[in-house]
This record gives sequence, structure tokens and C-alpha cells, in this order.
Amino acid sequence: MTERRLRTQVGIIGAGPAGLLLAQLLARQGIESVIVENRSREYVEARIRAGVLEHQTVQLLTDAGVGDRLHREGLRHDGVYLQWPGERHHIDFPGLCGRSVWVYGQTEVVKDLIAARVEAALPLHFDVADTALVDVESDRPQIRFTSADGEATVLECDLVAGCDGFHGISRPAIPEQLRTTWERVYPFAWLGILAQVAPSTDELIYAWHPDGFAMHSMRSPSVSRLYLQVDPTERIEDWSDDRIWSQLQHRMGLDGWTLNAGPVLDKGITPMRSFVSAPMRHGNLFLAGDAAHIVPPTGAKGLNLAAADVKVLAEAIVARTQEGRTDLLDAYSDTALRRVWRATHFSWWMTSMMHVNPHGDAFDRQLQLSQLRYVTSSTAAATGLAENYTGMPFE
Ligand code: APR
Ligand code: PHB
Repeated sequence: MTERRLRTQVGIIGAGPAGLLLAQLLARQGIESVIVENRSREYVEARIRAGVLEHQTVQLLTDAGVGDRLHREGLRHDGVYLQWPGERHHIDFPGLCGRSVWVYGQTEVVKDLIAARVEAALPLHFDVADTALVDVESDRPQIRFTSADGEATVLECDLVAGCDGFHGISRPAIPEQLRTTWERVYPFAWLGILAQVAPSTDELIYAWHPDGFAMHSMRSPSVSRLYLQVDPTERIEDWSDDRIWSQLQHRMGLDGWTLNAGPVLDKGITPMRSFVSAPMRHGNLFLAGDAAHIVPPTGAKGLNLAAADVKVLAEAIVARTQEGRTDLLDAYSDTALRRVWRATHFSWWMTSMMHVNPHGDAFDRQLQLSQLRYVTSSTAAATGLAENYTGMPFE
């Protein structure tokens, strides 16, 4: 069989937010890249993920030329509500730290980035198979894959960006003895629904309840996104729409407030973990996004961390390509990991404060309630939440 040979500056594995945004940032600086993705465009554009963008993520997407629809359809939120039975409190982000967040689905970010790539007629291969990395330690690393039309392809690169998520091939391409990983698997999961109903709140509600955490988010003025803490062994088949709505009402209920129910468009259960793998570089392979780290969804940091990684990586690649400087690329892993650990701590902290630990006791629950009262009554404590939630400034 003949092999097709291609050449590019940056080979990118994965068309999630990390890979797509990296390609977009590089293209704006005249740097060539090729993206290979093993799923179809339809699949990638239909995947329902989180939906809160930090202030700086919005800035980055805007500067990258993909902010038009985000500014038209995204919802700026100036805070969140924290709640426990009988009390709901607002945290005012601009008042505390001068920044806001935007509610705009990750699915929409991905659609916008794919549209920009397709419009510019730049290479993006969906439905590839057999992706493999070769010679990543060398200065001519390769991505090998079988294209959608069945052609065996060798993509020769100056460097490779592993943006292939938690289950991809890039992290395992770093020899195990060179990697350190840290992991926390939480004893609960999120059952999430997307519903065709106007949100019952103007801003997100994070609710602590003795029967488990519940949360109200949204995607648009007519689509709501809601979550329930469930046991990780729960099966979605056992959760009828009625059962989900009644648990949401039970856990988020407050005198004088009603939760609007509506048709459920999508539902699923997601396990929760924290995971970090270091270093984020091996030779000419650079990891970004979920390929290197996972956070539980409570702080809405996953997409924002992926965006922060590729901002740092794109700037480092530009410095090497345009000025011959390698210092930024050499610092990439350490620079990215400092932000990763801040977000890892924040997500763990939000998760621990809001969820009922099935192995915990009444003492743990009193500590959580005390922490919630503190965060909602002390400006110092609320500021810590606000600046992390809206995103710490880039270094
Ligand atoms: N070859 C090609 N593509 C691959 C391979 C492979 N071997 N393995 C995985 N992929 C693709 C996946 O199909 C997916 O589209 O890589 C992409 C990785 O995208 P994401 O999982 O979305 O990861 P990332 O871009 O880092 O974005 C992180 O996504 O999971 C959420 O919460 C997370 O919001 C965060 C964001
Ligand atoms: C979401 O809208 O899907 C969402 C919002 C906030 C979170 C997690 C998920 O903390």
C-alpha cells in the first residue's frame, strides 16, 4: 500500500476546544497546522459539555476572531448564587474582583472554531483512524493516521500538540517513568440534563442539600442545564424525567421560588475526578487541555484551562518560529502547570464544599454549612471565590 506524506509546522491531535483554538491562534500568526480528529464533525459538534467562560477566555476567543456569536448570544453573568436549605445568597463578581463570566456552551465554542477553520479552508481531518505518534523526541516528529477515505498518512511536523483529551494517545506516548500523576476520584457523579425550558433563575445556582448537591445553569433564554449529585453507580435508565425534576425541585426548593420543568433534550451521568500529569512536554510533543489534566466540573474550569494552556503554547510556538527563541517553549510545562494547580485546588474546594460525601458524617456537613456561611458573608472569603471563578489573570 502507498503512504501519503504530508508536512506541516504543528501537528495537532484532537478537535476539541484545545486543538481547535490552538490551530486558530497559530493561523492568526501565519503558522501552519494540521488537525486530526478520530470522531466525525457531527459527533464533535453535538457533544454537550460545560458552559461557563472566564473573562479572559472570552477575551482570547474574541482576539482569535471567533467571538462574534459569543458576543451576540452569550449571556454575561455578574455572579452566582450559593444556596443551602432555606437560604440563597448572591456572590457579586464585579463588585468583588472587577470581572464577570459568560455563559456560552462549549459545544457552541467548538462549532464556531470549526466554522472558522472550514471557512479559511485550513486542514482539519475528521473520522481518522489508527492515530499514532512516532519519534516525538526527534526534531521531525510524525503523526501517522488512516484518513476518512482509508489512506495511510504520515504527517511530518516540527512539533506535535497532544490535544486529544483524557483518553487520547498523547499522554501515554510520554514514557511512564518520566511522568508523575496525581489523582482524586470523588465518591459521586453528576447527572446532567439539558431542557427546553426558560431558566428559573437569572444566574447560576449552586445548591448544597443533605440529599446531595444540585445546580441550575442555562444555555440560552429558552434552554436550561441542570445537575444533580448522584452515586457514580447510578444508571441513567433509572432516572425518569419526573424523578429528575422532583429531585431538582426538592434540593433547590426555596419559599417563593419555583423551578420550571420542561422537555428533556439530553441526559447523562458523568463521574468526577481530579487528575494532573506532569510534565506537559516530552521532546517535541506538548500536551494541552484534558490530555494532561481533568478537573471536576464544579468550578467550570475544564474548558478555561484548555484555553489557557493553548494560549501559552501558541505564544511559545510563535516565539520559536518567528524569533528563534526556545525559552517560552522550555517554560511551557511549568507555566501551564502553575495555573492548572490553582484551578485544581479551586475545583476540589468548590466540589468539597458543595457535595455531600457519602462516607462523611454530621461533622462534615456542619463544616460545609459553616464554610458556605463564611463565603457568603465575608468579603475576604467571597473575593477568593470570585477571583478564582472568573479566572485568575494570566501570568
Ligand atoms: N486521535 C484523534 N483524535 C482523538 C484521539 C485520537 N487517538 N483521541 C481523542 N481524540 C479527540 C476526541 O475525539 C476529542 O474530540 O480529541 C478531542 C479531545 O477533545 P476534548 O475531550 O474536548 O478535550 P480538550 O480539547 O482538552 O477540551 C477540554 O473538554 O472534556 C471537556 O471538561 C473538559 O471542558 C474541558 C474541555
Ligand atoms: C454548565 O452550564 O454546564 C456548567 C456550569 C457551571 C459549572 C458546571 C457546568 O460549574
